[in-house]
This record gives sequence, C-alpha cells and structure tokens, in this order.
Amino acid sequence: MNATEMAVAGSDSGAFLSSRFKQVRQATIALTGHLQTEDFVVQSMPDVSPTKWHLAHVTWFFEKFVLEPNVAAYRHFNEDLHYLFNSYYYTAGDMHARPKRGLLSRPNVNEVLAYRRHVDTAMLALLEAGVPDDVADVIVLGLNHEQQHQELLLTDIKHVFSCNPLQPAVHPELVPPPVADVPALTFSEGPSGLQQIGADGDGFCFDNETPRHATLLQPHRIGSRLITSGEFREFIRDGGYRQSDLWLSDGWATINERGWDRPFYWGEDLASEFTLGGRRELDLDAPVSHVSYYEADAFARWAGARLPTEAEWEVAARETAAAGNFVEAGYWQPVAGDGPQFFGDVWEWTSSSYGAYPGFRPLAGSLGEYNGKFMCNQMTVRGGSCATAADHVRASYRSFFYPDARWQFLGVRLAKDGGG
Ligand SMILES: [Fe+2]
Repeated sequence: MNATEMAVAGSDSGAFLSSRFKQVRQATIALTGHLQTEDFVVQSMPDVSPTKWHLAHVTWFFEKFVLEPNVAAYRHFNEDLHYLFNSYYYTAGDMHARPKRGLLSRPNVNEVLAYRRHVDTAMLALLEAGVPDDVADVIVLGLNHEQQHQELLLTDIKHVFSCNPLQPAVHPELVPPPVADVPALTFSEGPSGLQQIGADGDGFCFDNETPRHATLLQPHRIGSRLITSGEFREFIRDGGYRQSDLWLSDGWATINERGWDRPFYWGEDLASEFTLGGRRELDLDAPVSHVSYYEADAFARWAGARLPTEAEWEVAARETAAAGNFVEAGYWQPVAGDGPQFFGDVWEWTSSSYGAYPGFRPLAGSLGEYNGKFMCNQMTVRGGSCATAADHVRASYRSFFYPDARWQFLGVRLAKDGGG
C-alpha cells in the first residue's frame, strides 16, 4: 500500500483526527494509573521495555515522522532523545540497544511526561492548522502504533511484576471475570477453494495486510471456540510435555533447554496463575494463554487436530463482529465465554509463517521498516487480546511473534483437515 492508497484508507477530517489523537494519547496514560514511579523504569528481559520507554517511544514516532518533516518551526524537546527512543528504524538513525532500555534512569518519568506534552502541543497545533491526506495517514499510522504499544505496555509490566516474589497486582481492582457456560468444542466446515483474504480497503490497515488477494483453501474444519486452561491442563497431566513425538524439533529442544512444563505464568501446582490482578486461582474455563507456538502446536497434535492457517482463520473470523474481551472491558485477562471468541481474549497462533502477501510493497521511506523487514522466522497470530484496544483489530489484522514467545496473551484454536 503506498501513501496515496493509505490516504483513501485512513482519510479523516481534521476535527475528528484531533479528537482521536487526544483520545489515544490519553488512553495510554490511563493504563499507567496504578503504577508508582519505580515501576516505570524496570526491564525484566530483553523483549520487555520499561513503561517509561513505551511512553517516550510512541511520542518520538510522532516527532520523527510527523513533526520533523512537516513543521519547519518545530523545536525539539531534547534532540538527544532520538537516540534513546528510536526502536528499530535504522534508516532514521542509530539507537540505544534494546536489552539496555532498563538502564535509563534519565530522562526521568516527569521529563518523559513533559516530552509527551511538548509533542502533543505541537501535534494539536498542526492538526488545528489542517494537514494534507498523506500527513493525516502517517498520523493515523502513529495512533495505531501507539495502540500497539498500549498492549505491549500491559504485557511488559505484567512480566515485570511477575518477577517480584511478592506477586503484586498491576491493577488491584480489575473487573472480576464472568462465569460462563463454555460450550462443547465442535468443528465446522469453513469455506474452501479460492478465497480472498487481506484488507478490504474499508478503513485503516497496516501495509502487511495488503494486497488483498486470492488464496487456495483446502477443505477444512475450524474449532468453534478457544482451548481452555482446563483442556490444556489435561494435556499436561497426560504427559504432553514429556512425549517427544508431539513436538516440533525446535519445540522439543526449547522446552528441554528452558525447562518448560506449563504455560508461562502458571504455578507449579497447575492451580494458579499470575495475572495483571496479581496471583489468582486458575480459571479452568477461561482460554489458555501465554503459550508458545511450540506448545500450541504440540497441544493440537495431542488433540488429534492442527492449528488453523491464517487464511482459514480470517475467512471464519470475518463472519463474526470484531467484538470481544478487549482492554476496555477491564478484565485484562482472558475470560470464559460462550461464543467463538475470535476477537479479544488471546491472540491465536496460526500455522502460517509471517510472510509477504503476493505483490506486497512496504510503505515508502523509513516507515517501510515498520512491518516488512520482520517477514522471516516468525509466525502469524490473529484476533487481538484482552490487552488490545477494541477499535484496533479486524479480521485481516496480522500480528507476529517468534515461535518461542510466551509473554504476550497467546492462545490456541484448533482446526482439522477435510470437510464435513
Ligand atoms: Fe514501536
């Protein structure tokens, strides 16, 4: 998708965009409402970024890609921040090493918040003055980028807090999970033959969802709901982590090297898990979460099934509304449901390698580094999670993780070969 196509996809009036800008920026800050200053700085593993870093990086994105090229009179809050808060845009300049983000006690939290306000003021003045479609498109991209970091902010601080032996709650007053009658798992035949997948041109999309194209689906059936923690516990109790024939070679090596024998945040007794609300009794009816691709794949083999391809997932999910347990629901944890739960709760591993769609062209310039350069060695996940903003996902949305990733809300839906 080039900039002009994005203009069509993301066209917004100035007033709408201003209001949207304020809303998304404020939503980020709201997620930090229960944190203390010390919490903003910790980095518990290389994949995790400190809360403070997220707050600054999404701000840097607007400064670098909107203000610098479009506002001649813009004065930087502090030009040195570019080096600290550029993430991976090598064509935009050098950057601080990702695993060392937790060493940055300065700028302090108040200075980062002041940096946000500085950039917000300049952005709102720009929006007030009116922006051409190509600039509006980059702003919309920046807002979607900030929503992605809202989710990372929560999953990262969850990991940080999980490392504290006191097992504190990030949010002590989360909405209690609902009790639902989880229906029996069934499999229904999905559309096969040539099917169109990818962004349909209706609203914003990332470049990796384009171009829309035909893909061949074999006869298949897709699971009616997500796999629950109770079902995953049966797999564990049946010796699932000890049977090499259930595992991909890389998966078997990984679980043995790292001593994995259960989902990431589960207690050894398989009866509790760490959540953003602190350590809780395991809800056996809720969708299992924080499993790697390897574990999802081994579970599927144990269950006599397989993971869906991303095309199978997309054609099934688009038949339902993109509604579900998103961050605004206030659970911040996957919850038991009585529906298909394609959207929200947990990102669903697919068996598809994250790659370019036929004819894919990354965005021009540095923003071409946003998605395209990661199209190797990762797996596509679909549907958003309980930490995703409700208006952020859609059926064509593609996220991606390395197969050993577990710190995101990552879960399992099954599929089977053959129709009927
Ligand atoms: Fe980013």
